[in-house]
Amino acid sequence: MTRPLSVGLAGLGTVGAGLLKLLRDNAAVVTARAGRPIAVTAVAARDRTRDRGVPLTGLRWYDDPVALAADKAIDVVVEAIGGSEGPARALVTAALAAGKPVVSANKALLAVHGAELAASAERAGVVLGFEAAVAGGIPVIKALREGLAGNHITRVAGILNGTCNYILTVMRERGREFAEVLAEAQKLGYAEADPSFDIDGIDAAHKLAILAALAFGRPVAFDAVHVEGIRRISALDIAFAGDLGYRIKLLGLARRTEAGIEARVHPCMVPQAAPIARVDGVFNAVVAEGDFVGRIMLEGRGAGAGPTASALAADLIDIARGRTTPVWGAASGALSDAPSVPMAAHVGTYYLRLMVVDRPGVIADVTAVLRDEGISLESMLQRGRSPGEAVPVVLVTHETREAAMSAALARIAALDAVLEDPAMIRIEPA
Ligand SMILES: NC(=O)c1ccc[n+]([C@@H]2O[C@H](COP(=O)([O-])OP(=O)(O)OC[C@H]3O[C@@H](n4cnc5c(N)ncnc54)[C@H](OP(=O)(O)O)[C@@H]3O)[C@@H](O)[C@H]2O)c1
Repeated sequence: MTRPLSVGLAGLGTVGAGLLKLLRDNAAVVTARAGRPIAVTAVAARDRTRDRGVPLTGLRWYDDPVALAADKAIDVVVEAIGGSEGPARALVTAALAAGKPVVSANKALLAVHGAELAASAERAGVVLGFEAAVAGGIPVIKALREGLAGNHITRVAGILNGTCNYILTVMRERGREFAEVLAEAQKLGYAEADPSFDIDGIDAAHKLAILAALAFGRPVAFDAVHVEGIRRISALDIAFAGDLGYRIKLLGLARRTEAGIEARVHPCMVPQAAPIARVDGVFNAVVAEGDFVGRIMLEGRGAGAGPTASALAADLIDIARGRTTPVWGAASGALSDAPSVPMAAHVGTYYLRLMVVDRPGVIADVTAVLRDEGISLESMLQRGRSPGEAVPVVLVTHETREAAMSAALARIAALDAVLEDPAMIRIEPA
């Protein structure tokens, strides 16, 4: 039999330990598909004494992960440490410079330094695999880069963060507020102690930047992604969304427009009947639209030891087989220079919910602002009456420009009769 592929694994947390388990439990099937065994021979982590739930006997141990890059007996490095800087970046840079293929689960690293790392991989003529970095066990990198390679992709939309999707699902099902559901998710281990990367949309933006680069064949541009999270979503807006026939999801969306590439992460109202609206709990989903294929949707577990190990193993099997694809789907010289479109130029329809004093003339003041900004209304809803008290008023606009909507929101928020900052949620077609 051919010599085993010798793997140096840095990081033995959820992801690293999961990969060790998969390679041990599924050794026979992995060997058959890779054409040779894939064996972890060296590992790096901080704490030698911690129980990882998998035996580490016989594996060389490095305290310094970067040292794995110099280990001559290692064919490929797997980076499962995390973070866009520090040891993860140092290790991946060193491994590529040493001419070793790298597999990484690290979306932050790929989103922020993906262009430079792809250039190093290209110079060295080695693979940089990152299937595990986006949507966990869903093979979306392979789907976009290889399965749909014959298409012009026009749009990618995804539920890319399981923590946010879980919180929004529980808020909707139980009619509860964001803060209590977040606290409960932290207790259950579905949200981190510091949840900001997830709930402020940054994790989803890392993944969207990667998907947009693949979909549109251009260098990864994390800084060009417009990012909003879910902190301001209220149970009231979720209930109104239901009344209007929508569900609220945190989506990552990238679209090719005439002006360039639009990439944004923010809460959206999506029609209840849309398949993506029905993806609940910690599940992820990605919808891609191509000029020849039409629309496809992939759904599955976006995190966890098993799904992430599944994705890492796929990359390792490709490397064992000698299959190579440029990091962003095309050689760096063949990538597109399509510009990024600023959020202010976005055109769409909007849901607005205002808390106003119930008295004559208030609605006229609000609609005057909208008229001045050139925004026309599709519908308006006011439930109940309580003269002199606060009541919610819901407005849905026709298509309008984000810049006009921002200007209108600032003026509406300043009206005397408007009691709190207006809630604005963009409506996204199915
Ligand atoms: N968890 C998931 O479901 C998931 C899904 C997809 C992608 N990812 C990505 O996968 C990566 C790893 O995530 P994870 O959840 O497995 O994280 P984790 O459980 O926190 O594990 C991180 C590992 O890195 C090691 N490490 C940290 N700093 C180190 C250093 N300076 N030197 C050596 N080792 C160091 C830690 O060692 P000790 O154990 O000794 O402290 C630990 O084993 C991240 O990029 C993450 O975004 C995670």
